[in-house]
Amino acid sequence: MASVPSLSASLQQRVSTALTAAVPSAEGADPLLRRSDRADFQANGVLGLAKRAKTNPQALAATVLAQLPPDDLIAGVEVSGPGFLNITVADAAITANLARRLDDDRLGVPLKPDPGITVIDYAQPNVAKEMHVGHLRSSVIGDAITKILRFAGERVIPRHHIGDWGTQFGMLVQYLIEHPHELDHGGDEADGEKLDGEESMSRLDRLYKASRKVFDSDEEFKDRARRRVVDLQAGDKETIALWQQIVDESKIYFYSVYDKLDIQIVDEDIVGESAYNDMLVETCRLLEESGVAVRSNGALCVFFDDIKGKDGEPVPLIVQKADGGFGYPATDLSAVRDRTANLHATTLLYVVDVRQSLHFRMVFETARRAGWLTDDTTVKHLPFGTLLGKDGKPFKTRAGERVRLEDLLDEAVERATAVVREKGEKIGLTEEEITANGVQVGIGAVKYADLSTSLGRDYVFDLDRMVSLNGDTSVYIQYAYARTRSIFRKAAAGQTAKAHPELPLAPAERALALHLDAFGDTLAEIATVYEPHRLASYLFQLASLFTTFYEQCPVLTAEGGPAEVENRLFLCELTARTLHKGLGLLGIRTPERL
Ligand code: ARG
Repeated sequence: MASVPSLSASLQQRVSTALTAAVPSAEGADPLLRRSDRADFQANGVLGLAKRAKTNPQALAATVLAQLPPDDLIAGVEVSGPGFLNITVADAAITANLARRLDDDRLGVPLKPDPGITVIDYAQPNVAKEMHVGHLRSSVIGDAITKILRFAGERVIPRHHIGDWGTQFGMLVQYLIEHPHELDHGGDEADGEKLDGEESMSRLDRLYKASRKVFDSDEEFKDRARRRVVDLQAGDKETIALWQQIVDESKIYFYSVYDKLDIQIVDEDIVGESAYNDMLVETCRLLEESGVAVRSNGALCVFFDDIKGKDGEPVPLIVQKADGGFGYPATDLSAVRDRTANLHATTLLYVVDVRQSLHFRMVFETARRAGWLTDDTTVKHLPFGTLLGKDGKPFKTRAGERVRLEDLLDEAVERATAVVREKGEKIGLTEEEITANGVQVGIGAVKYADLSTSLGRDYVFDLDRMVSLNGDTSVYIQYAYARTRSIFRKAAAGQTAKAHPELPLAPAERALALHLDAFGDTLAEIATVYEPHRLASYLFQLASLFTTFYEQCPVLTAEGGPAEVENRLFLCELTARTLHKGLGLLGIRTPERL
């Protein structure tokens, strides 16, 4: 395991040394190095420096250039425009650097220098309720961020803050007591069959609807249900056992959906709202004693100068209602205490719908005032936008209902399978392979469409576009990966991947190579800004550059002879490993044959 500095990082160093040599006061100045179309890199930092030193930028650029003679790394430098430096890197340096990457099982990607503990709140569906598209985004984005951070060496603790507490459970439990067989299984597990998530959901849905109906029409039942909430909060044994039964039934369903989504969730990370129940009283007491929260019309509230409603009246965060009940904010405040004090989090992330932004703003500010969050802890709500239908309105079924997540996934897989079949039949895929690939392409398409959009933005759920082979899609990237594998299958005995730094690189090779070299820098940046869409766009660009390379540079029949074949196979191999690793971090699989 050896981290490999990118050429861009090495060059950055060289240029900043040159800048300082030319203008001693430039110590530490940023050379503003960028990839460029004209050369490999362009350094734009001279302009600002010249301005500050009140000298002619072109003259200064020439002075800096004199400090950058050709060597192992730099093949040539030119001054262009008002004082840019166009820098070409030596072919041998490029190939040698990539060879070091291929040698390393982390592809030379460095670990974070200062890893901490990140608690990430994502994939938080609600018990006894169907999962919908909002839960899709949180799960897909949270999973990708978790994987990216872990790869960077951060310790990541997921917290699936499921909605498993609240007054509706009084109603559900009471109904179960009065209709004890509502959640009975048809003996499916007794047959040794896998528990069926869909059946669990329909049992829960029946229970929910039936109890709601009685609750709304029968005043006496309503009373019994309300008393049941008190029993639940007091931890009454029978009540808790039935509540647990409802939660367990829901988990069967959640797990089946996550399974379909190819997202791994583990039991110990499912720490729902109920888990904080014992902290609520204390949380309120601490807030009240410290004066952070005050009583207002009986409710315990926190006020903010800058948060006002439409009428100009302050909108408080209500931590305890006038009737003594606790709500969502008290739970989240307790969760902040738990995550900082008990889990020792250095970073708290919340992957939650943008519509909860105000809630989190108020929760974080309250926690700061109470001293539960200090400057040592980074806390971020990573809000995501809404999934839209083709009409630009929030995604609904034709009947105007919320789309069931499972239906959406099934449809994606079905469409993807049709795409896979068309190509697959030509290359002789078996029926099993077509089915397996259809799943990987379909689920990948759903995840990629989500992850390639920057978090805060809404996007249109358009399956046709998502499974298209042309365009910014996962299947395009998966296809590039499969192509690399197919090249290796076609290679003759003795045609292997091997780096040849002595060979000059064709333009398409350089472009591909320099992009491959940027993988580590890209990941390091994403791990600090939590923007998986940058990884998606990196990978799409990589697949595009590979496609161009494949069109312009024959691999197995390279004209330059066996060494060139080996060197091109080497580029194919590194491309394959980078695509595989990168898509893997987004939670997307890479079929070997497509
Ligand atoms: N269960 C909530 C919902 O479905 C999301 C929970 C978000 N996490 C949190 N700590 N509040 O909207």
